[in-house]
Amino acid sequence: MSSGKLRRRCLTLTPWTLTAVRAAMVLRQKTSSAVTPVRMCERHIAVEAGPSRTQVYGFLEVNKVAGNFHFAPGKSFQQSHVHVHDLQSFGLDNINMTHYIRHLSFGEDYPGIVNPLDRTNVTALQASMMFQYFVKVVPTVYMKLDGKVLRTNQFSVTRHEKVANGLLGDQGLPGVFVLYELSPMMVKLTEKHRSFTHFLTGVCAIIGGMFTVAGLIDSLIYHSARAIQKKIDLGKTT
Ligand SMILES: *[C@@H]1O[C@H](CO)[C@@H](O)[C@H](O)[C@H]1NC(C)=O
Ligand SMILES: *[C@@H]1O[C@H](CO)[C@@H](O)[C@H](O)[C@H]1NC(C)=O
Repeated sequence: MSSGKLRRRCLTLTPWTLTAVRAAMVLRQKTSSAVTPVRMCERHIAVEAGPSRTQVYGFLEVNKVAGNFHFAPGKSFQQSHVHVHDLQSFGLDNINMTHYIRHLSFGEDYPGIVNPLDRTNVTALQASMMFQYFVKVVPTVYMKLDGKVLRTNQFSVTRHEKVANGLLGDQGLPGVFVLYELSPMMVKLTEKHRSFTHFLTGVCAIIGGMFTVAGLIDSLIYHSARAIQKKIDLGKTT
């Protein structure tokens, strides 16, 4: 890192846990320099650590079950089946988890999809913060006009943040955590083409309806006016 050069590595990931290990390497270095984009490592994650920030790109293949991935400082390892991060070398006061999510999606985009985490810009107001994104993934089938079927997912998200003291357990770990679970519901969207005649029929129905209602109101007013007039006339004669 001393050279100020970018480091780029492709990590092969287990389906369950992704750890962008390099995130914290650079946190203590104050100089900034432009980070040039890297080509994505196909089906893998590219981690690019610059002097002032780290960028992570890529695809992650996961099983269709609940899981999580996270970006956290420190060398990670397994300790009695628990995934832990070694934060010894950092000092908790130096961990600034300010982050920007350019894009996150679960599968291909369909026209009109809303990915709620895109362009999320979060500044960590305190050192050593833990950000959790609870994501509910909804499987979605998009039927195109030409008969093609796109199987993808949309999701909703809730964010939670707190100051983590770095110890494992209920205090949490500084980092950005995405915890996802699958919804038992599925959404099916179908593209439909509406012809001009269909549109015309709709317009005619609306206009026809307007005339009918106007006629009803008109006759109602006419008849009640006549009834009132009759009463007045009767009153005069008696
Ligand atoms: C995020 O917000 C900060 C402060 O509001 C701003 O300086 C920065 O440019 C924003 N980053 C992006 C990528 O929008
Ligand atoms: C972390 O960094 C961001 C932007 O670089 C800054 O706005 C924020 O105040 C920092 N937070 C802490 C706790 O130093």
